[in-house]
Amino acid sequence: MKATVGVVIRPAEKADMAAIRGLVRLFPQQLVQQNLPRIPSFLVASASGKLVGCCALQIYSKRLAEVRSLAVHPDFQDHGVASMLVERCTQRARERGIKELFAVTSQSSFFRRLGFATFRREKTAMFLELIPPSAR
Ligand SMILES: CC(C)(COP(=O)(O)OP(=O)(O)OC[C@H]1O[C@@H](n2cnc3c(N)ncnc32)[C@H](O)[C@@H]1OP(=O)(O)O)[C@@H](O)C(=O)NCCC(=O)NCCS
Repeated sequence: MKATVGVVIRPAEKADMAAIRGLVRLFPQQLVQQNLPRIPSFLVASASGKLVGCCALQIYSKRLAEVRSLAVHPDFQDHGVASMLVERCTQRARERGIKELFAVTSQSSFFRRLGFATFRREKTAMFLELIPPSAR
């Protein structure tokens, strides 16, 4: 992956939350808008002081965590920013001893490129919808 000049990936700070919400709001079809992960779960991508991407690592247990709320501003897409964010999330998960990461996404080719798989060792991810998406 080419380095993305001028883009810095860093842990989110309290003051970033409004900009994170603004980014997530750009993608109502793809991203859950309510109950966002808390600030310490987020990594952000910043370019010249402007927040251009975000991604959260939501930890569910000692073994399992989810990559959530991944968004990159349209002006900064296709330059590897999301890849860098997910790689940093993966690194954070490894450091915490997490064994498995998952993502619920429509961007399967993007996640596949980063090593995620739908099937693994005879296992398949399955969902049971308890509430229709429109009511969430
Ligand atoms: C999905 C999303 C996060 C991708 O962000 P992005 O920063 O454009 O992602 P990347 O640049 O890392 O990768 C996108 C493509 O650019 C290509 N790319 C990666 N690095 C690149 C670089 N340095 N230069 C040019 N192209 C590059 C990749 O091949 C990739 O193609 P692929 O998707 O076919 O694998 C972004 O489109 C988005 O915010 N979408 C709306 C929200 C969403 O769907 N989020 C995911 C739900 S969890």
